[in-house]
Amino acid sequence: GGAGLLVPALSPTATAAATDLDPTTIPQFQQKMPVPPVLKPTSVSGTTSYYDVTMKEANAQILPGKLTRVRAYNGVFPGPVIKAESGQRVVVRQTNALGVPVSVHLHGAHVPESSDGSPMDVLAPGGGTKTYTYPNDQPHANLWFHDHAHHEESENVFRGLTGFYLLTDSVEKNLNLPSGSYDVPIAIRDARFHDAGQFAYTMGDIAGRTVILANGKPWPYFEVAARKYRFRLYNTANVRFFTLKLSDGSPFTQIGTDGGLLEKPYTTTSLALSPGERADIVIDFSKYPVGTTLVVENTEPGPPGTPMDLVGKVMQFRVTRTATDTSTVPATLRTLPALPAATVQRNIELLMDETGGEHAQAYINGKIYEMDRIDTEIQYGATEIWTVHNANARAPHNFHMHLVQFRVLERNGQPVVSGNDSGLKDTVSVKAGETVKIQATFTGYRGTYVYHCHMFDHAAMGMMANFRVV
Ligand code: C2O
Ligand code: CU
Repeated sequence: GGAGLLVPALSPTATAAATDLDPTTIPQFQQKMPVPPVLKPTSVSGTTSYYDVTMKEANAQILPGKLTRVRAYNGVFPGPVIKAESGQRVVVRQTNALGVPVSVHLHGAHVPESSDGSPMDVLAPGGGTKTYTYPNDQPHANLWFHDHAHHEESENVFRGLTGFYLLTDSVEKNLNLPSGSYDVPIAIRDARFHDAGQFAYTMGDIAGRTVILANGKPWPYFEVAARKYRFRLYNTANVRFFTLKLSDGSPFTQIGTDGGLLEKPYTTTSLALSPGERADIVIDFSKYPVGTTLVVENTEPGPPGTPMDLVGKVMQFRVTRTATDTSTVPATLRTLPALPAATVQRNIELLMDETGGEHAQAYINGKIYEMDRIDTEIQYGATEIWTVHNANARAPHNFHMHLVQFRVLERNGQPVVSGNDSGLKDTVSVKAGETVKIQATFTGYRGTYVYHCHMFDHAAMGMMANFRVV
């Protein structure tokens, strides 16, 4: 928890290394990737669905033959799926049966401050409860919920407090995209274990987390039919960036980003996801004979010393059968709202101590996060352009805003025309030295929300700030 806050930023500790589970002893492509379970509402009244969720410790079978103690929503690792529909309310009563404070943030959602799950709005350990009301007054999007208690979120998320929240609407449902068992959410992250199979967590431990998990299993396989699949990819890692490709170099189709579908499908052979980002993709396995195996590879090297033979693989697809396929990916997926003219420009600078060391700190515009300080005041209804610069020479960052879905106008001075930056976004990568220009309109709710680097360890080190819509 909080006691482990300011420990080495860039390297694991020697003591942790001594009891490490050797990741090369974990067999790859031996465990089946599970599909996370969909939560059932405890009741439905009119257009409102009510859920009861308890955050608790549980034993999860992650490693073969070992149990790992996790912190998880209803004890499900990684978290369950909540399915929601635009215009229909979801009310979640959360109970904290853990020994640490928690706050449940619905990432990417347009919600009132009282249900945002902000870092300062925590549920007390040992039974604290809170009822979150999600109006779902936004278009379809692949959202997720995760812990956000300040100074606790990094460890809580690492130990399992994440879940999927799939919001749909008539625009999305009227398309004939792959659905049912051909529509699979996948949370990708890294982890580190002690040799007894327990999680080994240290703040800022970037190089030591070399076990890659897909839906909670290390380097799993997933059996597919020779047809199109939709995969909703989530990067739920604390700090690791992924750049994904198929081992045969085949193109696939990106159909959506954080905030829902792109205007038109985008064909690519590689996809970069920083922590917190999502991508909606379609892979067509119909060209592969039954018996084919394909590996999802990660070409993102990570910090020096990261063994590429481990982190360079994510999971395996096995084409095990044929199947009919009447789904389609149309040339036009949706229309994005027109960009209104911006009236306010701001500059945001992300910077952290790059030496690592015992007390790494991280800043936005030179300041460490303080709960009670309002860093940016925004007029209700304003459209603003924020120029976000990563002032570090080596450390990557990204940038996430609560309340809004934004658009990325430019990356490093170049206009964004297609691909992962071109849709509705709530999280955008900003690697060392990079600058992105983003535009957002602040409507719907007044109140205080945060923006931060979504590398949870960096946010916990201070790279977070408050904005208030007035
Ligand atoms: Cu996904 Cu403020 O976070
Ligand atoms: Cu960062």
